[in-house]
Amino acid sequence: MLRNLILGVAGRPIVRRMATSGPGRAVALRFVAGENLDQGLAVTRALCAEGFSVALDHLGENVTSADAADAAAAVYREAIERVAAEGLNATVTLKPTQMGLDVDAGLAHANVSKLCAAAAAHGSSLTLDMEDHRYTDRTVEMCLRLDGEFGGRAGIALQSALYRTPADLDRLISVPVRLVKGAYKEPPEIGYPRKVDVDRAYAQMLARLLREGFYPMIATHDERLVRYALRLARQSGRASDTFEFQMLYGIRRDLQRRLLDGGSRVRVYVPFGSDWYPYLIRRLAERPANIGFFLSALIRS
Ligand code: FDA
Repeated sequence: MLRNLILGVAGRPIVRRMATSGPGRAVALRFVAGENLDQGLAVTRALCAEGFSVALDHLGENVTSADAADAAAAVYREAIERVAAEGLNATVTLKPTQMGLDVDAGLAHANVSKLCAAAAAHGSSLTLDMEDHRYTDRTVEMCLRLDGEFGGRAGIALQSALYRTPADLDRLISVPVRLVKGAYKEPPEIGYPRKVDVDRAYAQMLARLLREGFYPMIATHDERLVRYALRLARQSGRASDTFEFQMLYGIRRDLQRRLLDGGSRVRVYVPFGSDWYPYLIRRLAERPANIGFFLSALIRS
């Protein structure tokens, strides 16, 4: 309920103005590595030194021009090259609308394809983030096409919140799938309105992925699901290097550490960039208690 309210009012200019003021920025920095690639790489280095791997996310979405898409792709290109030059255990993760999907599907595909080629040249890979349901079809198709071009180098996030996802998983079972619950407000004809159903769907797809998936990326901070994943992996005899957990920077550090110490692979999703507002709103909506941090920062300012 509160989640829908937060996502619903986020687009209002006054809310945006308040949230991007000084206190909003302070809260954002709990979840964001910094506003540029240097800061993203500094956090990446520190995490890799501890034994984590990283998925670097250059914040941005819904760009409205080919120039903006090309500029975003150039930052990713630099990230891929610098990660490789430093030998960091990091991949990149990106949003198709940041690569120009709202402008032209061909442009977006060309941008992502070039990045995938650059990553593959260094033995690395990338993942397509999943945005709201208007982009699901095109993101799935983009991933399948990239898989044809670069076999196994392009992964995709799938959302358990959507009714359609089990059918998408049928088509994507042989690519690296990042299973998430879904961070967007979706209409009831598209996605489960109740969290309990989203969680149940997650558990079902998790079981399928761990049984048959190519390289499951289990992206959740939900401890019950994490425990379930570990149990399933044991039961199906999956080696610990054939799947990974993924969590967001700044969220459940304790759980990230515990999993790593227990011998699991853990990749931390590290966002950087100045366009952090939509990302911050999704993090606030997921856990309305975060609003408390925001309000106390506002009161202190
Ligand atoms: P749930 O919301 O049930 O939270 C479980 C527990 O985690 C909470 O009790 C709390 O302790 C902690 N927690 C969760 N969110 C928190 C927050 N914001 N602040 C503090 N604590 C929090 N979504 C999407 O639609 N497309 C995508 O491409 C991605 N990509 C992605 C990558 C990675 C690595 C992760 C971890 C998540 C995503 N997501 C995403 C977001 C995802 O869909 C979902 O919204 C969040 O992960 C929150 O759901 P949980 O699975 O953590 O469970």
